[in-house]
Amino acid sequence: MSLDIYQPSDPSLAPGEARCPGPSAQDIIARDGDQPPAPLLASAYEYLGNDDISWSRYTSQAFHDLEMEKMWTKTWQWACREEHIPNPGDYYVYDIGPFSVIVIRGDDDQIRAFANSCPHRGMQFCNSGEQGSGKQFIRCPFHGMSWHLDGSLREIPCRWDFPHIDEQNFKLIEVPSDSWGGFVFINLDREAQALEDYLEVLPEHFANWPLEDRYVVLHTEKVLPGNWKMCMEGFMEAFHVLATHPEGLRGSSWANTQYDLFSPHVSRFLQNLSSGNPHFERDYTEQELFEFLGHPDETLPEDKTARQAHADGLRESLGAAMDVDLTGVSNSELLDSIEYHVFPNACFFPGVVIPLIYRFRPLGVDKCIHDIMMLQPIPENGERPEPAPRERLAIDEPYVSLESFKTNRLSYVLDQDTDNFERQWAGINASLKGAQTLGNYQEARIRHFHNTLDTYLSA
Ligand code: FES
Ligand SMILES: [Fe+2]
Repeated sequence: MSLDIYQPSDPSLAPGEARCPGPSAQDIIARDGDQPPAPLLASAYEYLGNDDISWSRYTSQAFHDLEMEKMWTKTWQWACREEHIPNPGDYYVYDIGPFSVIVIRGDDDQIRAFANSCPHRGMQFCNSGEQGSGKQFIRCPFHGMSWHLDGSLREIPCRWDFPHIDEQNFKLIEVPSDSWGGFVFINLDREAQALEDYLEVLPEHFANWPLEDRYVVLHTEKVLPGNWKMCMEGFMEAFHVLATHPEGLRGSSWANTQYDLFSPHVSRFLQNLSSGNPHFERDYTEQELFEFLGHPDETLPEDKTARQAHADGLRESLGAAMDVDLTGVSNSELLDSIEYHVFPNACFFPGVVIPLIYRFRPLGVDKCIHDIMMLQPIPENGERPEPAPRERLAIDEPYVSLESFKTNRLSYVLDQDTDNFERQWAGINASLKGAQTLGNYQEARIRHFHNTLDTYLSA
């Protein structure tokens, strides 16, 4: 390994200006020469300061409560996919902290979201996390009052005892819901700004990668041992590849990953994979990289880089396996790890080889739920396969234990990531320093996230 990784920073550069030596993400994309969509050529970074960030933001119950009161109740969060509720009466329960919402498709095909709480004496209509189909109306299991799928009152048993109820004022409490990219979003704030405005650059960027034309091939829900922000932030930088995923160092651009802070709600990283590691460039040949990328017995064609030859092979083999035409897909879209984060808790990867969707939700201060989906383009025949069922994993169950996931190398990588969290959480709580110190560039998205969080908490 070349030692320039460990060189001191250059005092002639202003804070935030330094970058890892070697080709940048944009250099690697330019070398591909295949004109990816404009968003992959964009970059947006600004130096946001270098103050330490206090651990109390992660460990304090008061801070958690403030987030619940001022942030989770004011932000758009995806609840499910539209394909989870394809027919009238299909529903999906989304829970965040103490709040719970039923997302349900009405007889008029419209999707609505209602507080999962009976207006009578508060009973939950459905269990947390429940999903189901075929409801003709929403009936409370306690005393049997019921509501139509549009939230209007249907029936009150012993109506004679409730002369004070006005049907217009006894509807279900509806909260804003809207769809983007095949995801149904909800917002607990009935005065919320429109979802499209909230998503800022995301719709424009993903116009190139319509997630509504993909389907769920894998869906997991796992409990993680740490504050939701700590766990989420473990997925917002590629700096940790060195120590956490060392086997990925040879093929990944790692410290040359690009970080973008587009707008208050949206940031991105763009990590080239199958590109070789710029630090190793002079240490191994393109033929060796090609062999490392899974072609041990093949000779790299003279006119191609290893990344190009690998991508060309995948376009054919993966395209055939998925029954999708990948000929027009650029190397970067096909191969790279491209992660958009949408405040507060969601990540969307537009790529083909890494088509992940994440979501992190707090379970109190010290645990969280990590939802993962993998989305794949619907086949050429246009028929949408059924979404994969959600598989729940307990805190000590690794991703590789899942039959449906263990053949995918990503399960192993995710286990490496999540294996860190128990020790990191213990270390945070054992810290006598009281705060974390972030890198100016590689960890800028974490600082950017906290800045946006503060705008909600101080509102
Ligand atoms: S609590 Fe729902 S009908 Fe009584
Ligand atoms: Fe990782």
